[in-house]
Order: sequence, then structure tokens, then C-alpha cells
Amino acid sequence: MPYKLKDLPFSVKVLFSSYLLIIAIGYLVAMLQILFTHGLADGKFGLSIEDIVYSYYGNRSGSKLELMLNGSMKPFAPPGERFEIIRWVRSGASEKSYGKTVKPIIEQRCLKCHNPDASIPDFTRFEVLRERAATDMGATIQSLVRVTHIHLFGIAFIFMFIGIIFCFASGVPEKLKALSVAMPFIFQLTDIASWWLTKLSPHFAWLVIAGGAGMAMAFVFMWIVSMYEMWLLPLQQRGGREIRTESYSRYLRREHD
Ligand code: HEC
Repeated sequence: MPYKLKDLPFSVKVLFSSYLLIIAIGYLVAMLQILFTHGLADGKFGLSIEDIVYSYYGNRSGSKLELMLNGSMKPFAPPGERFEIIRWVRSGASEKSYGKTVKPIIEQRCLKCHNPDASIPDFTRFEVLRERAATDMGATIQSLVRVTHIHLFGIAFIFMFIGIIFCFASGVPEKLKALSVAMPFIFQLTDIASWWLTKLSPHFAWLVIAGGAGMAMAFVFMWIVSMYEMWLLPLQQRGGREIRTESYSRYLRREHD
């Protein structure tokens, strides 16, 4: 590269750094988002292989309603009432049997949060509740198609720009540089392929984590090297020059001349 990050004009450095800062914040928030959506899929906080399996493959041994009642919704109803709801779910969740035993429990325990004014599923509507009572088949093909194309376009853009910035780095051997800029794209394909594979079989869940982790590592590496070469490297080199002043003996000699 004829241009080096450390020698770029100040304005270009500011532009590149602003971009890098914004996408770093974006990346952190994206991880929070993963924690709040997939992280809660198994009803417990924190991301695990189970979460990935539930998100994509589903929890085919049971329903979302049952899972949540044994997970994060557990504190909201006493065991007897939760049992009552689960029994209704397992016996087919019919509308007829709903009114007698389950409806009063839902109304008393759940509607203060699950109502039309909230952004979470509204259980005043029976269909909404029944959907959660059906066997959980994981991500739908429609949702996978949607998220796949958004990710391919959006993330490719992010890594195109961070890759361009990183290509101006001077301290990285050309081969490592080529590998670093290609890595996110390879991991992105792995990541997306693994969602579809996990939808087919839960055995691929680890690949989702591996794809995501690989992408994050490539991101962090390029980000740190780029920022370092733009701001710290010039400082260090200038500092080095300042320290390299004449030696003490030469100074004395000069004083005596
Ligand atoms: C204090 C508020 C609150 C109460 C009370 C509450 N929930 Fe929830 N519920 C939430 C929030 C917030 C979410 C979304 C976040 C999450 O998934 O944990 C949620 C999510 C759920 C989900 C997952 C919905 C989906 O498809 O994403 C189910 C099922 C559920 N609750 C069932 C219940 C049941 C049954 C009750 C009553 C026994 C209940 N909740 C009571 C706040 C509440």
C-alpha cells in the first residue's frame, strides 16, 4: 500500500476513527440484542448452546409456554397454577377447556404485563396464547430468509469498510492482511449456513457460536491494529525521535569547544 495509516491526513484519520467507533458501539449493542433475544430462548439469562438450539431448531419436546413457565415466568404464578396451565397445553390447548381453568389464572397472573399496551405477546388474545402453546418448531423459513439477506447485505458492508481501512496498515505482512480481511466474510457464510443447518438438526448449534466468535475476533483484530497505527504509532515514533538527542559526552565536548 502506498498510503500508510499512520501517515494519513488528520481529517481522514478522524473519518476512519469515527466510523470504527460507531461500528464498535453497534457491535456491542448487537451482542446485547443477542443476549436479550436468543439468550432468553431457553428461559434462562445468558447465551448457551440450548438457546441456539431452541432459537433455530426449536424445543420440539414442548411448547414455548411450558418452557417459559418453567423458566423466566416461573415467579409469576404458584406451582399449582403453573401445573394447571401446563396440563392444558399438553392436552391440546383447546379453546373450550381454556375458559374454565386457565383463563382466570392468565387474567390474574399474566395480563398485568402481557396486555395490548405492552411490546410483549398480548395474552388477552387467545390466538396469541395458543401459538405459544403449540410445539415449538424454532425459526420459521420466512424469518431465516429475512435475517439471512439482512445480515449478508449489512454485515458485508461493515466488513468492506473496516477491511479497506485495515488494508492501509503498514505493520502487518501482506498474507496476514489478506487473511484478516477475508476471514469475516468466510465466518459470516459459516454463521448463516449454520442457522439453516441448526434448523435441520440441533447438532450444528456449536457452529453458530463458532461462526459468530470468528467474526468477532477478526473484527477486534482489525479494529485494534487500525486504531493503533493511526493514533499510537505516530506518537511512539515521534517520542522516539525526541529521546534520541545527542549523548552526554558529545554535549560536554560541544560545551568545551
Ligand atoms: C412482570 C411482568 C410479567 C408477568 C407478570 C408475566 N410475564 Fe411473561 N414475559 C414478560 C416479558 C418482559 C417477556 C419477554 C422477555 C422474555 O422473553 O423473557 C415475557 C415473555 C413471555 C413468554 C414468551 C413470549 C414469546 O413468544 O416471546 C411467555 C410464553 C410468557 N411470557 C408467559 C407468561 C405467563 C404464562 C405468565 C403468567 C403466569 C407471564 N408470562 C407473566 C413479562 C411478564
